[in-house]
Amino acid sequence: MISLKNIYKSYGKGETMRKVLTDFSLDIVPGDFISIRGRSGCGKSTLLYILGCLETFDSGEYLYKGEDVSKMSEKQLARMRGREIGFVFQSFFLIPSLTCYENIEIPMMYAGIPPKQRGEKIGSLLSEIGMSDYANQKAATLSGGQQQRVAVARALSCDPGIILADEPTGNLDEASGEEVISLFERINRDFGTAVLLVTHDPAIAARAKTQRTL
Ligand SMILES: Nc1ncnc2c1ncn2[C@@H]1O[C@H](COP(=O)(O)OP(=O)(O)O)[C@@H](O)[C@H]1O
Ligand SMILES: [Mg+2]
Repeated sequence: MISLKNIYKSYGKGETMRKVLTDFSLDIVPGDFISIRGRSGCGKSTLLYILGCLETFDSGEYLYKGEDVSKMSEKQLARMRGREIGFVFQSFFLIPSLTCYENIEIPMMYAGIPPKQRGEKIGSLLSEIGMSDYANQKAATLSGGQQQRVAVARALSCDPGIILADEPTGNLDEASGEEVISLFERINRDFGTAVLLVTHDPAIAARAKTQRTL
């Protein structure tokens, strides 16, 4: 599904140049659950931004379903970001003044999915994350763990092939973190969605089926 070959990425130029990724390769197939562990500053977020088509790279090759991502048009890239790939961030990034339902609905509206279909999907996602009773509650009033579960539902709303999760338990207590990791395990098992999770936490990394370090 995804093939990264010999990726190099640096920031800055000359004296201030910082090499972040050096000859990094990775293959992801449908159904994978991969963790990538590394200390702070080693390039984990940069790697996810590259995979999510939010950041470019200096050299190497990124193929998505056999297509060269660096040759995609803006329209194709927008589709990748909107529908093919789901993002979950450390700090949730929900819109606090909107309800759980509305937060999950946003990517589906951008993707042009009709209201009835949106409603059905949101209902099943709320049930999947154990928050059916919270549909109309504003995101600002939820606990961190609940917010992250809504963020996972939002990432799943357009049925992506893969979820990219950047330190998804980094802002959570142990119990809430556990709920989020179990949710990823369930999604991976039941829907076959590939999950790529980056973390500095060895215990979280160990939950993946395949473990890498960066
Ligand atoms: N936009 C940027 N401009 C310059 N340097 C950056 C930028 N983004 C990240 N970096 C640097 O690249 C390195 C890797 O950052 P990052 O991918 O965020 O690491 P991690 O997520 O593993 O903590 C860090 O040294 C960081 O300071
Ligand atoms: Mg990071």
